[in-house]
Amino acid sequence: MRLAGKSALITGSARGIGRAFAEAYVGEGATVAIADINLEAAKKTAGEIGGKAYAVKLDVTDQVSIDAAVKAVEAKADGLDILINNAALFDLAPIVEISRASYEKLFSVNVAGTLFMLQAAARSMIARGKGGKIINVASQAGRRGEALVGVYCATKAAVISLTQSAGLDLIKHHINVNGIAPGVVDSDMWDEVDSLFAKYENRPKGEKKRLVGEGVPYGRMGKPEDLAGMAVFLASADAEYIVAQTYNVDGGQWMS
Ligand SMILES: NC(=O)c1ccc[n+]([C@@H]2O[C@H](COP(=O)([O-])OP(=O)(O)OC[C@H]3O[C@@H](n4cnc5c(N)ncnc54)[C@H](O)[C@@H]3O)[C@@H](O)[C@H]2O)c1
Repeated sequence: MRLAGKSALITGSARGIGRAFAEAYVGEGATVAIADINLEAAKKTAGEIGGKAYAVKLDVTDQVSIDAAVKAVEAKADGLDILINNAALFDLAPIVEISRASYEKLFSVNVAGTLFMLQAAARSMIARGKGGKIINVASQAGRRGEALVGVYCATKAAVISLTQSAGLDLIKHHINVNGIAPGVVDSDMWDEVDSLFAKYENRPKGEKKRLVGEGVPYGRMGKPEDLAGMAVFLASADAEYIVAQTYNVDGGQWMS
């Protein structure tokens, strides 16, 4: 068990990739807060995972909610050892059709949510004096632009940049900040992505998803559980000397 006795908070873990992280962490002996804006779904997921999983209400765009979630974890598990910043939203539109509302919503969840969640976790870890591990979920979308995906790509490039700056600033407190960049992963989010591509590229539903899967060098889309090994590794003692990096876990989609 590589995370025995550790306390983790995973944002947006009621479903998808975050849920797979939570399952893997509980399997490695961690106590895990399933922290999600959808509390009912978080409770259901925590119940299904069982073991040391429990639900916490969290809206990463709301500072009061962020502080309350960190306090809830401190009370429940005697401190916070690991944060995964996983919650994010997607949207898609040609540059000339991007709305300010969509821009603000995505930056609020994906970038400000990551920064201020990371800050609250770091404050808690520094006060406790035992260091910690923070993992930010970026994307291959943060490595380069895409014609229809301007805002989401920019948010994920910002996540990679924040991972570098926070990694450099927090390592003096023995807090390792690193990131994971998934490629294309078969989750509820990708069903929404497929519907948006169907609309803007005038395709039948399901076609874009099939094509991107065929384009992955590994030969298929990722599954949420394909990301879990890297998340366990980066939270473990084996990753102690890794600082400010973002790792591609994408079946060979991107090389950097
Ligand atoms: N699915 C992919 O192909 C893919 C590819 C690259 C990166 N990613 C990234 O992986 C992460 C997880 O993606 P996923 O596909 O599992 O997404 P998902 O949409 O299936 O799950 C996201 C979760 O975040 C929660 N959430 C949304 N807004 C929130 C908020 N304000 N506060 C707290 N929780 C909130 C949702 O309720 C949901 O449970 C995201 O950061 C995403 O950008 C996904």
